[in-house]
Amino acid sequence: PRKIIIDTDPGQDDAVALLLALASPEDIEVLGITCVAGNVPLPLTAKNARIVCELAGRTDVRVFAGCDAPLRRKLVTAEHVHGKTGLDGITLPDPRMPLQDQHAVDFIIETCRAEDDVTLVPIGPLTNIATALTRAPDIAGRIAEIVIMGGAYFQVGNITPTAEFNIFVDPEAAEIVFRSGVKLTVMPLDVTHKVLTTRPRIEALRALGPVGEVVASWTDFFERFDMEKYGSEGAPLHDPCTIAWLIDPTLFSGRQINVEIETVSDLTLGMTVADWWGVTDRAKNAYFVGSCDADGFYALLTERLARL
Ligand code: BDR
Ligand code: CA
Repeated sequence: PRKIIIDTDPGQDDAVALLLALASPEDIEVLGITCVAGNVPLPLTAKNARIVCELAGRTDVRVFAGCDAPLRRKLVTAEHVHGKTGLDGITLPDPRMPLQDQHAVDFIIETCRAEDDVTLVPIGPLTNIATALTRAPDIAGRIAEIVIMGGAYFQVGNITPTAEFNIFVDPEAAEIVFRSGVKLTVMPLDVTHKVLTTRPRIEALRALGPVGEVVASWTDFFERFDMEKYGSEGAPLHDPCTIAWLIDPTLFSGRQINVEIETVSDLTLGMTVADWWGVTDRAKNAYFVGSCDADGFYALLTERLARL
């Protein structure tokens, strides 16, 4: 199995990504879950991650709290998508498992130094990852890969006309990660908007039993907003694309391209400037995924969540 650290801001779609990873021990070993401020403030993301571990029956997984604000900017949150708690849709018991004392950034640095070939999976703003890379540049050469949910190319932005939320919240952090030289795989909105929560897909999850019912309650909640906004037959299930990629990359395809982050312009702040057609000679730094076998993705998700 791939050894991974999931860096997250749950978020209903983050929660589904965590469940998919925790349900897939033959493919994925979750070394720890690190939380960051994003969809909701840090105390809530750190709480929600533990709620999800308990739902999965995995109180053995260590959960760490990290940065509570972007590197240089004021935190922008997304309660308008995820609700006040970040996990609106169903009320689950408060977690009883403890939050670890160690700071998430220290855990990331320590783990990348101690273990070979760790894969980092950031599915929120990139603040923790950038802070770790800045504070401990030696880990860049030790990380196997960073698999990111973030950005957009042909698909326009979801928090501003040009920016995707995770990159927009902390563009300076994103710039550090995209320039780090570490192997990057990126799941932008272009692919996540192909993985829609249609009725039949969600009913199949709901039919799985208690965990499936919780997942369906979550997607019902954030879908309400998304269907209005996008007019599509379901909501994009963004973050689980990263985990599905790690389990079965044949479900996806993309291209190795140059991606730079806009950090200056007020109008296009946080835009992922993606050279899809290779019109510059800037070095290719990211594998930008553009398409996905959505039915195959939901078949995998349903099969794995059935185990919980
Ligand atoms: C990303 O933003 C968050 O709201 C979601 O959890 C996802 O990580 C999509 O733009
Ligand atoms: Ca997220």
